[in-house]
Amino acid sequence: MLQKIDEIYTDFQKALSQLKDQSEILNLKSQYLGKKGQLSEVLKSLKDVTDEQRREIGPHANKVKQEMNELVQQALRNLEVEKINEKLAAEREDTTYLDSVKSEWTPTGGVHPRTLIQREIEDIFLSMGFEVLDGPHVEDEFHNFEALNIPGDHPARDMQDTFWFDTKEGEKKHLLRTHTSTIQVRGMLERKPPFRFIAPGTVFRCERTDASHEMCFTQLEGMMVGRDISVSHLIYFMKTALQEIFKKKIEVRLRPGFFPFVEPGFELDIRCLICQGKGCSVCKQTGWVELLPCGMVHPNVLKAGGIDPETHNGFAFGLGLDRLVMMRYGIDDIRHLQSGDLRFNSQFKTY
Ligand code: PHE
Repeated sequence: MLQKIDEIYTDFQKALSQLKDQSEILNLKSQYLGKKGQLSEVLKSLKDVTDEQRREIGPHANKVKQEMNELVQQALRNLEVEKINEKLAAEREDTTYLDSVKSEWTPTGGVHPRTLIQREIEDIFLSMGFEVLDGPHVEDEFHNFEALNIPGDHPARDMQDTFWFDTKEGEKKHLLRTHTSTIQVRGMLERKPPFRFIAPGTVFRCERTDASHEMCFTQLEGMMVGRDISVSHLIYFMKTALQEIFKKKIEVRLRPGFFPFVEPGFELDIRCLICQGKGCSVCKQTGWVELLPCGMVHPNVLKAGGIDPETHNGFAFGLGLDRLVMMRYGIDDIRHLQSGDLRFNSQFKTY
């Protein structure tokens, strides 16, 4: 009988290994293990054997029965896994094309040198009690010109080659701001003196590009309004800021400059750090770089900003951020800043 049981077990294993279908496996199970199954039939004759034989055959038959049950469960589980795998394979996205993409170089982003400098300057001015303001790129005539003492027929409008938007008859004229001085106006109208703020941002001019001119560049406006503010305050803040930025003593010169929104107006130049003053394309061979137009806020501008020029005054400046970046890093052409050339950009990987 023992032999018969083992034969049944072997046959069962063979048969099971052929099956690939749930119902077939269940059929096989009942064929062998069911009430009328082969194993059960054999076990029925247990009653005809001696006690001693029964003690030997009984446990063996139970063990085989248990193993056969386990094999059935295992086969059913395997079938389930196979089904899931098949489903996954069918729904799988073909990404083999990615294998051909070489991944030796993992590009990581960095901060543009202009942003680096901007953040640094913001920190310097924040530490001196200034706020940091922002304003829109698309402006109207009032904020870009009129409130800044540049009326419609004023020739000073020609100093800034402006990108105008098409406007229908009777509509307000809009333009891309030509300077960040627009935020002087917005800042004044939104607060009561005394106050001091800076305002970094992109500005636009219809300009012919060369080593030191771009159509789209960045400025950092500054304004301080209070009582009894003088040119010496202006010079103090400018010198302190520049020395912090360049981390060394730099040579500056102040000369008269005309801007309708300041009176008196100045141009603060620094000794060119690209050529050490010898003369190059960035400083137009003069040895000096125009960096910081500034001056005392014109009374008309204070009035347009809702401030009484009899009781308050102040200074304003417009730092050329791109020039500053160029001086700081020894960049000899402003066009590099916007070129999108990774050989240039990746030199400033600072976060
Ligand atoms: N807005 C002026 C320009 O872009 C710069 C400036 C700002 C001058 C503030 C004086 C005071 O040319």
